[in-house]
Amino acid sequence: MQVVREPKAFREACEAARATGARVGLVPTMGALHEGHLSLVDRAAEEGATFRAVTIFVNPLQFAAHEDLGRYPRTLEADLEACRARGVDLVFAPDDGAMYPPGFQTTVTLGELTKPLEGVHRPTHFSGVTTVVTKLFALTGKCVAVFGRKDYQQWRLLERLALDLDLPVDVVGHRIVREEDGLALSSRNRYLSSDERQRALAIARGLRAANEAWHAGMRDAAALVEIVRGPVETSFDSVDYVAIAKPTTLETLEGSVTEAVLLVAAHVGRTRLIDNLELGVDPAP
Ligand code: PAF
Repeated sequence: MQVVREPKAFREACEAARATGARVGLVPTMGALHEGHLSLVDRAAEEGATFRAVTIFVNPLQFAAHEDLGRYPRTLEADLEACRARGVDLVFAPDDGAMYPPGFQTTVTLGELTKPLEGVHRPTHFSGVTTVVTKLFALTGKCVAVFGRKDYQQWRLLERLALDLDLPVDVVGHRIVREEDGLALSSRNRYLSSDERQRALAIARGLRAANEAWHAGMRDAAALVEIVRGPVETSFDSVDYVAIAKPTTLETLEGSVTEAVLLVAAHVGRTRLIDNLELGVDPAP
């Protein structure tokens, strides 16, 4: 496995792989890798990638001043070991200066898709994400890029980004990986005390109940939201949103729904967790 720290070296390694006829698979991450990330590497192979590149970069642009950039877990050695064991071909692990050298001043922003949900609570977050991912797409070139659907809104807007800018990138969203008890895997789960982890299960409980109601025929948007909100409000310290939205546009839905995604963001202690379930599409949490 090759490990590079400089953008130019990363671009050259991707170009060299394509020159041998390989299809490049890209898995952008912020490190602190867990099984959820590693399943994206497997998915890239299922999508036909024969050369898989993982990027590890805690992107300062996507954290607001009061957020957890300083305490975000950084576990590079363990991450490299995990990538090696999973058959990754190339890791790009730049430092802040390599990605944002002096004079850097370009921001990539998307429109409507960034406004609801996360956009309300983290107004500067998505422009940080789309700026860094545009750079990663530009450096990688033609590829299939795999993102976790736990960041559902991020996945949808990155699909849009590749489409709108005619980038030679096939964006794929991979299903959420959960612990046996339903907790969605997240690098931030390591912040949770055992009491907080227990309370965090309320999201999966709520989504599971909504999923059962959906399969029993319930289609009322407000009622589905209430099924999730109940346990989340009881167990979490504060709730940013429990919402039901149209999967492709993330517009809020009302009345009777046919295609819908339930999305949750809530705080337990100092940790903010997000989760979602596309009704009728995703398996029960
Ligand atoms: O989902 C993440 O880990 C990050 O937002 C991403 C896509 C790697 C961009 O920094």
